[in-house]
Amino acid sequence: MEFSEVILKRRSVRRFTQKKIPKEVLMKAFEEAILAPNSSNTQTWRFYWVNSHEKKENLVAFCLNQSAARTCSDLIVCVASPKSWKISQPELIKYTEEIVAPSAVVNYYKKLVPMMYQWGPLNSWGLLKKILFTCLGIFKPVPRSPGFRSEVQEVAIKSSALACENFVLSLTNQGFASCMMEGFDEARVKKLLKLNCSDRVVMVIAAGEEAQDGTWGPRFRIKLSQVVHEV
Ligand SMILES: Cc1cc2nc3c(=O)[nH]c(=O)nc-3n(C[C@H](O)[C@H](O)[C@H](O)COP(=O)(O)O)c2cc1C
Repeated sequence: MEFSEVILKRRSVRRFTQKKIPKEVLMKAFEEAILAPNSSNTQTWRFYWVNSHEKKENLVAFCLNQSAARTCSDLIVCVASPKSWKISQPELIKYTEEIVAPSAVVNYYKKLVPMMYQWGPLNSWGLLKKILFTCLGIFKPVPRSPGFRSEVQEVAIKSSALACENFVLSLTNQGFASCMMEGFDEARVKKLLKLNCSDRVVMVIAAGEEAQDGTWGPRFRIKLSQVVHEV
């Protein structure tokens, strides 16, 4: 499928057939999802493909019994895991040393990444960063975030959402449909998946084969001129 065709074809589908998505299709979608651009390449996204019947039933309920969740064949939870930079960082350091990257790049992963992505007990380090950069910011442009835990979460959420988009586009390209959902009980989803308290559930993706009348209607968007501003 042409790239533009994939973009046009992807819709939020709320009604699916019973057909299961072949595992290789889902795996390809995951592989393409993790090729998304992401903050400092720390890859702080995690995907939970919920296959257990019992967990899936619970997850449907936690998605407030939405029709997309109820009828889809597969449910995937995308999680932003801000502390997981600790897993990718040693590998990134090894990789940058192997490719003999400039020392600034190696140092970025060794020193700056831990500084940026930690917030300390009770946000203490985050507060220190805030004070420091707010003072420095009086004199020159500075990165004002991430400081606090919520800001590190925000960074991880942005990257994870990009991976979700890759994921659903890949499904479309492979002939399957999806619906991204933010209508869920995050506390219950976190408990179900035994997530860390700093993890954030970015979205639950309902996936499957589109049923007849799977969408609510033709696509609607406000005018391009209302959202694009040349300044
Ligand atoms: C972050 C996000 C959260 C969404 N949450 C829901 C949801 O909980 N339930 C739902 O039916 N659709 C949900 N949607 C789908 C949107 O309603 C849909 O993308 C929008 O209406 C545009 O339609 P389209 O995707 O078919 O172009 C969500 C989409 C995004 C990106």
